[in-house]
Amino acid sequence: VKRVRTRHFHNAKQQGIKITGLTSYDMLTAAIFDKAGIDFLLVGDSAGNNVLGYDTTVPVTLDDLIPLTRGVASAVKRAFVVADMPFGSYETSADEALHTAFRFMKETGAHAVKLEGGVRSAEQIRRIVSAGIPVMAHIGFTPQSEHQLGGHVIQGRGESGVEALLADAKAVEAAGAFAVVLEMVPNAAAKRVTEEVSIPTISVGAGPHCDGQLLVWTDWAGLTTGRIPKFVKQYANLAQVLGDAATTWAADVASGAYPAPEHSYDDD
Ligand code: KIV
Ligand code: NA
Repeated sequence: VKRVRTRHFHNAKQQGIKITGLTSYDMLTAAIFDKAGIDFLLVGDSAGNNVLGYDTTVPVTLDDLIPLTRGVASAVKRAFVVADMPFGSYETSADEALHTAFRFMKETGAHAVKLEGGVRSAEQIRRIVSAGIPVMAHIGFTPQSEHQLGGHVIQGRGESGVEALLADAKAVEAAGAFAVVLEMVPNAAAKRVTEEVSIPTISVGAGPHCDGQLLVWTDWAGLTTGRIPKFVKQYANLAQVLGDAATTWAADVASGAYPAPEHSYDDD
């Protein structure tokens, strides 16, 4: 199999072929999604909510994400692996951002990094790209700044919202990002950005006009038991499947049905 490269993202937009991405935080799901042909896997700082037990992505550190990213990168044969730069690991300066990107590239096997912010992060994107590391940008709703944005608020609404979103998209394009995630943006605004930038737009709740779609895998697979955003469609109910398996197994242990002879070792 041929690995997905940044040129695949570019070609897909040119040819109108939709790009698919899921988050992944471990080698087992990464291998499954890779085999299914998902184009890219994002080791998101959404690991904070889905693996590490935090309420937001704010407390997640680089040291938290490095081993998770290594696990994902170790498992893929085709998919493009994107490492998410956590809050506090790139905002201070372009130097800090490049240092963080180097750690991901040297220590994990990721193929690219992602960071939040448009105009405000353009200098960081430019510096990382100039060192030979592909950058996926992320604009619209940016979870690391949810306290400033006032919660999970849709971005790019109204004429000034659309203009601000367009300015962010153009800033990351000019800085050299190979793709841009649009999170929680109305359809019309996402369509306009998609038409006005040359790099592919990846929707997380930004509608059907984007060049690709990305979802948090635990939401998409029905493993998350908390609140699920409106834009998620559940394609499985893993919480039910695993819950039923655990209940059945516990009953089998209680009754003695497990372990049966075929699950035990003989003396000789
Ligand atoms: O961390 C994450 O999962 C993300 C996507 C939802 C865009 O950043
Ligand atoms: Na993220």
